[in-house]
Amino acid sequence: MSADAAQDAAPDDGQPGTESAAAARGPLVLAADGLGKDFKLGGGAVLHAVRDVSFGLYSGAVVALVGESGSGKSTVAKLLAGQERRSHGTVTLNGKPVDIHGGRAFRQYKSQVQYVFQDPFGSLNPVHTVGYHLSRPVKLHQPEAGDVKQAVTALLEQVRLTPAAQFTEKFPHELSGGQRQRVSFARALAARPAVLLADEPVSMLDVSIRLEMLSLLDDLRTRLSLALLYITHDIASARYFADEVLVMYGGRIVERGPAEDVTQHPAHPYTQLLIASAPDPDNLGSVLKSGNSAARAGRARAARPPTAARSAPGARSPRTGAGRRPPSSSR
Ligand SMILES: Nc1ncnc2c1ncn2[C@@H]1O[C@H](COP(=O)(O)OP(=O)(O)OP(=O)(O)O)[C@@H](O)[C@H]1O
Ligand SMILES: [Mg+2]
Repeated sequence: MSADAAQDAAPDDGQPGTESAAAARGPLVLAADGLGKDFKLGGGAVLHAVRDVSFGLYSGAVVALVGESGSGKSTVAKLLAGQERRSHGTVTLNGKPVDIHGGRAFRQYKSQVQYVFQDPFGSLNPVHTVGYHLSRPVKLHQPEAGDVKQAVTALLEQVRLTPAAQFTEKFPHELSGGQRQRVSFARALAARPAVLLADEPVSMLDVSIRLEMLSLLDDLRTRLSLALLYITHDIASARYFADEVLVMYGGRIVERGPAEDVTQHPAHPYTQLLIASAPDPDNLGSVLKSGNSAARAGRARAARPPTAARSAPGARSPRTGAGRRPPSSSR
């Protein structure tokens, strides 16, 4: 399998929300339709970082966005989080189109759609305590919370940082990488979001902690009915953690489907390359498989109606589209 072969296959351009494997979990919350981002570079050049990306996020479901470095994963998350302005396409939250031109509605949207970064060190301010990091969003997003301290304790307990009192006065440098990442999750949860965009949440953590962290995320999305976007390089973890897998290449989604199908029977040459070149070196996949989250996911998959199609209807199948080239990139 060559990279040229990957280039030769047509991209998937499925419509959002149609027969996604994730739809069996709950209602559609966030939908991206024809999302695109062009970055203007020097000398009049344009980088099409994201092109015609459509998918849905569903309450209580995990959708994994998988692809190599530079494929556009974080840009998709930033477009959804309102941190970057989209060049093309529409985003709807609970059926309502999202206006990116600021205002109160956009601020409300941004609190509903929380983004957690890969680097928990970079996202926490070193001069502030954990308590400070969490009390600010509590005051902002939970005005009805009479006792801010109590609300902060509840958040810490939600991310399994207990006893909470041991953590509130600590500074980021006094925490382990995993603990910092949990504080980042707690801060995002303070807004009581419907959607959590987790951008490579475990890739900077020790292998031994990754399983714990994914299990925590799995637990949170179940208990809080979060619509979760899980961004990762690691297609093996996506297999066991996600309901649906979207494979990104050169700014486009080139393959999508139920996690088990995409990872076990990849149709697109690029997905095949991704799996061949990342044979689960950390063995995370097999650990996850034997873990609780896999058991839960397995039960849910078994209960899923047979309509959970491999590719959205109306989308060109990567198989049927073989031989066509994606539009050329101007990067
Ligand atoms: N603000 C920006 N200005 C110009 N180009 C950008 C900007 N942000 C991202 N890019 C480019 O867009 C492309 C996609 O970047 P993005 O960060 O979304 O990739 P990624 O899939 O998240 O990669 P990684 O796995 O390394 O995090 C890359 O070529 C990147 O250099
Ligand atoms: Mg990224």
